Amino acid sequence: MKKIVVLTGAGMSAESGIDTFRDSGGLWDKYPVEQVATPEGYHANPQLVLDFYNTRRKELLTVSPNEGHKILGELEKHFKVTIITQNVDDLHERGGSSDVIHLHGELTKVCSTDSPNDSRFIKELEPDNYEVKMGDLAGDGSQLRPYIVWFGEPVPKIEVAIDIVRKADIFIIIGTSMNVYPAAGLLHYVPQSVPVYLIDPKQVNVSRAGVHIIQKGASEGMRLLKKKLLQE
Ligand code: OAD
Repeated sequence: MKKIVVLTGAGMSAESGIDTFRDSGGLWDKYPVEQVATPEGYHANPQLVLDFYNTRRKELLTVSPNEGHKILGELEKHFKVTIITQNVDDLHERGGSSDVIHLHGELTKVCSTDSPNDSRFIKELEPDNYEVKMGDLAGDGSQLRPYIVWFGEPVPKIEVAIDIVRKADIFIIIGTSMNVYPAAGLLHYVPQSVPVYLIDPKQVNVSRAGVHIIQKGASEGMRLLKKKLLQE
């Protein structure tokens, strides 16, 4: 089976009703990124940050995977599909994708403030207990924090993502402004002979020639692309 590698961003989940970050009216317009998505912001006001992610986490209970997520899930019948997502929601999994790498963490999980990447202290929350409070402790006795990669923090999964991208037969980019590194840099590791498709309703600047642009939303774009991939 051919290997499809898909890099997704916030636009993937826009049609499910989750706000993107950089579009006007997006999350970073409403909440200052340095307050809610940096280690400095967290140390300055942990309560504010816990509340921000508690709200995002509870939002998961009100949204569903869109057609784009579901088509990616269905493609597993025909291809070996790996999703590398910058999204912290669980909509790829709920849309039927079985191989998902979350570069920027997962809303449904919490970890230790002192050692965020120590797997012994990473815990999945049950949907009926999505609220993290001050005083809730990780296994090492430090405050539980969202399992999210904040700006200025390392992205531990980038190495495994690079290895997967290097072996892709087909590369698809969906709904990311390609502004945030190292995720955006993954495109540089796609072998030159591999076709690259980019689905986004807006123009996205990428530093690679010959990218097949599908200027549509995630669902319509994936509908068109699925047809094309199955014809080949
Ligand atoms: P952005 O908000 O920067 O970009 C969202 C992209 O989605 C834009 O290019 C939009 O045009 C596109 N878009 C909007 N509606 C769409 C639709 N219906 N279908 C397809 N695409 C659509 O989000 P990201 O690139 O994901 O990190 O941002 C990357 C990272 O920056 C995020 O993971 C987050 C953020 O700060 C952290 O929180 C650490």
